[in-house]
Amino acid sequence: MDDEDGYFDESVAATYDESSSDMFAPAAVEPVVDVLAAIAGSGRALELGIGTGRIALPLSARGVPVHGIELSTAMAARLRAKPGGDEIGVTVGDFATTEVGGSFSLAYLVFNTIMNLTTQAAQVACFRNVAAHLEPGGRFVIEVMVPNLQRLPAGEIFHVFHGSEDSWGIDEYDVATQGLTSHHLEMVDGRYERFSVPFRYVWPAELDLMAQLAGMTLRERWAGWNREPFTNDSRQHVSIWELPAL
Ligand SMILES: C[S@@+](CC[C@H](N)C(=O)[O-])C[C@H]1O[C@@H](n2cnc3c(N)ncnc32)[C@H](O)[C@@H]1O
Repeated sequence: MDDEDGYFDESVAATYDESSSDMFAPAAVEPVVDVLAAIAGSGRALELGIGTGRIALPLSARGVPVHGIELSTAMAARLRAKPGGDEIGVTVGDFATTEVGGSFSLAYLVFNTIMNLTTQAAQVACFRNVAAHLEPGGRFVIEVMVPNLQRLPAGEIFHVFHGSEDSWGIDEYDVATQGLTSHHLEMVDGRYERFSVPFRYVWPAELDLMAQLAGMTLRERWAGWNREPFTNDSRQHVSIWELPAL
């Protein structure tokens, strides 16, 4: 992967909204925006990995000033071209380290994007970077999957998460490093093409420790945006950490 846009280069950006259409449906977006708008209150919101503005645009339309950090200029260009996109500032850079002016009542990182940081050090740096941007009492919200290791028999490294005649999705685990590479294979003109993206899976308790290192404490953990209880069976979580008020 040589491209400065990372794994979300022009070819991915061009089809992102269409290929994630379930995540763009009002039923998926509205509960997220409701939670985030309530937390932001009269303050500003910072989205890490803002992408094409799936959440930022409707949040901004609710009157919350939103700023984004985004690695991919191709994704940011798609956001800018949409109605309301000119209301949203985007700083191009790595959200683990990039500094943005001003302070925020809310920072958020949705759709498993914390896992795009592929080392523990980078994930810890991300929490510290967020804390540096939050005002006292500010909150950090993450939406991420619970690592799916219960699906992986001992000694196995591959888990097929999708299979059909002409497309396959296979996760490859490295449990020693918490590495997870998602392989997507698509049949194109009679040959399989592979697109593989590396992630680092991360445990809820590990995220709490990262928050603690950055001076934040857990306020809420739900199984979803409708505030469903987080249980043994939850496959994802929405977690909210808070910086102390002065
Ligand atoms: C799965 S998409 C999510 C986009 C948007 N938040 C959404 O919910 O639709 C992940 C986004 O994060 C960006 N990204 C990944 N790693 C990043 C990093 N280290 N710094 C900044 N942006 C990053 C990608 O370019 C991509 O636009």
